[in-house]
Amino acid sequence: MAFSKRLVLAMIFTVFVIAKPSEAALNAHYYDRSCPAAEKVILETVKKAILHDPKVHARLLRMFFHDCFIRGCDASILLDSTKSNQAEKDGPPNISVRSFYVIDNAKTKLEKVCPRTVSCADVIAIAARDVVTLSGGPYWSVLKGRKDGRMSRANETINLPGPTFNVSQLIQSFAARGLSVKDMVTLSGGHTIGFSHCSSFEARLHNFSKFHDIDPSMNFAFAQSLKKKCPISNNRGKNAGTFLDSTTSVFDNDYYKQILSRKGVFGSDQALLGDYRTRWIVETYARDQKAFFREFATSMVKLGNFGVKETGEVRVNPRFVN
Ligand code: HEM
Ligand SMILES: *[C@@H]1O[C@H](CO)[C@@H](O)[C@H](O)[C@H]1NC(C)=O
Ligand SMILES: *[C@@H]1O[C@H](CO)[C@@H](O)[C@H](O)[C@H]1NC(C)=O
Ligand SMILES: *[C@@H]1O[C@H](CO)[C@@H](O)[C@H](O)[C@H]1NC(C)=O
Ligand SMILES: *[C@@H]1O[C@H](CO)[C@@H](O)[C@H](O)[C@H]1NC(C)=O
Repeated sequence: MAFSKRLVLAMIFTVFVIAKPSEAALNAHYYDRSCPAAEKVILETVKKAILHDPKVHARLLRMFFHDCFIRGCDASILLDSTKSNQAEKDGPPNISVRSFYVIDNAKTKLEKVCPRTVSCADVIAIAARDVVTLSGGPYWSVLKGRKDGRMSRANETINLPGPTFNVSQLIQSFAARGLSVKDMVTLSGGHTIGFSHCSSFEARLHNFSKFHDIDPSMNFAFAQSLKKKCPISNNRGKNAGTFLDSTTSVFDNDYYKQILSRKGVFGSDQALLGDYRTRWIVETYARDQKAFFREFATSMVKLGNFGVKETGEVRVNPRFVN
């Protein structure tokens, strides 16, 4: 097996920093013999879905982030709730992690071409890469060989970082998954695509603190425009909200430019400008899209290594354990 230098480094890092010696050894060529068509089948499925539903890009990228953060990249996010268990997908911030049907479709096709071979966790990782590349972002080689978990708990979504987190909280949340400050700022760049509902940012717009009605770190005109999109009387609709940057369907460095203009949507986005540990990274990416793309690819591979299961099952139906 040929490990890339980066993977070896990532593994050493993982073992020493978060002391999880059971990390699986992922491999770029994992399905070369057992399912050579795997990546093509997934790409075609994703492309077809995007044609009908432009929200798929952002949702599949976010799905990967959530899956990896909750109990390691093990497709726990795909399991349906049962009579006795409420699953992650029905946990608190479930409002926009949708598009599960795309993974269902890819798996159905994969089970025909190479039954019981490609894990759902790998399908999520590949699909996340594909949506980034298809929306104009970087391409990277996805390491594969994850196994699927058998457990999914709604209450564990509490472990996801929240939009009101400050930089210290963000750093801590990412460090617990073996991710550095730079990985954190880089992966936050995932907000270059997608949408947010009012509930995730409206605390910044009204009655923010004792002294400020509006979050003082937010551009005033931008705050006024968000207030119009989220009037107090009617802000719970499924379409009430805003795009996360001004080029929502394009994967670019506009997210970082918006932060420099104090137009970050979440407190957790804007906070990256207010802390010396992260500000320089925001400034670098705002001026150098190539650097952002390169680092994003690197950090996504690192994220994809977190909590990977070496032993376990390849789930046949993404929604149910075998
Ligand atoms: C740094 C900590 C992060 C926080 C606090 C955070 C929080 C959020 C929140 C609150 C939303 C909006 C949910 C809604 O109201 O519908 C959102 C959307 C999104 N997030 Fe994050 N996120 C973080 C990191 C990430 C990362 C690492 C990625 C991927 C690399 C990511 C990708 C996305 C995408 C693509 C959307 C848009 C989803 C859609 O359009 O349906 N986020 N995030
Ligand atoms: C999550 O979504 C499910 C299904 O749409 C819904 O029944 C449930 O109330 C939602 N939970 C939260 C906390 O929003
Ligand atoms: C979630 O619930 C399970 C079982 O009900 C419990 O064992 C676990 O500690 C809880 N986890 C969190 C993060 O609250
Ligand atoms: C960040 O938030 C935590 C929890 O609310 C708080 O204890 C801490 O003082 C905050 N740190 C900074 C630098 O604001
Ligand atoms: C603003 O917050 C204060 C203190 O939490 C509360 O007493 C007041 O009613 C709030 N005002 C509005 C308009 O929600």
